[in-house]
Amino acid sequence: MNAQVDRPIGMFDSGFGGLTVARAVIDLLPSENLVYIGDTARYPYGPKPASDVRSFAIELATSLVRDFSVKLIVVACNTAASVALTELQSLLSVPVIGVVEPGARALVRETKNNRVAVIGTAGTIASGAYENAVANASCEITSEVTLTATACPGFVEFVERDETSGAAVTELAQKLLAPIRKADVDALLLGCTHYPYLSAVIGQVMGSGVKLINSADATALVVRDALASNKTARSVDSGERGSHEFYSSGDIKQFAELGRRFLGPELSIAKQWPK
Ligand code: DGL
Repeated sequence: MNAQVDRPIGMFDSGFGGLTVARAVIDLLPSENLVYIGDTARYPYGPKPASDVRSFAIELATSLVRDFSVKLIVVACNTAASVALTELQSLLSVPVIGVVEPGARALVRETKNNRVAVIGTAGTIASGAYENAVANASCEITSEVTLTATACPGFVEFVERDETSGAAVTELAQKLLAPIRKADVDALLLGCTHYPYLSAVIGQVMGSGVKLINSADATALVVRDALASNKTARSVDSGERGSHEFYSSGDIKQFAELGRRFLGPELSIAKQWPK
């Protein structure tokens, strides 16, 4: 037993959205232990001032290191990653991975016509994080791409109340996605970890010519590579599955019920955070 490799991966989001990233990490790295915190008591992060989101992110990430001895942190929230990733990376003693750069690289790789779009919360879009990440990724991967970035206020609230289809959310999507439909893009990044739960609605509104990109799988690959390069990956040879713990700062019963529907059977109970 090697204590270092057995330490969990820590992950946080404002609520259920980061479970899309947790799913991808569990599927790609089934032997890894995982601790997830959904800050449902303080969601949504999107409309809050960047300084508030930054201090929530520092509190959550510090707790993951101090209270759970995590070996690596995934900021499974675009809003928090957009405003706090660099600060977390310099503050903490463990590697910190965000969702913005992996998503931007996946987006740029996908386009054929060099016109792409990202949707995210008001905070993410206002931060300009995607303009930078897409510009960097396009330098690395292809020629210059044109980015249309649009905030989708209200999407997160639909997901958090488990209303992922129906007339109301479709009407909102038609309204919010109109500028992207006009921009003639061929790839759209779901730049909020809640949005993959709205893929059916977003896909229907955008039409089959636009590929929807989700940052979860790309982020899981970055986590795998970071663990491998730090030699902190847990062995897969024994076939032993990792343990998965879920915490919420809000109603833990509701978090377990809805979270299980979103994530799957690994989420059977949720515990209270802070412990
Ligand atoms: N899931 C989050 C994100 O990726 C935050 C959503 C919110 O709380 O507004 O941005």
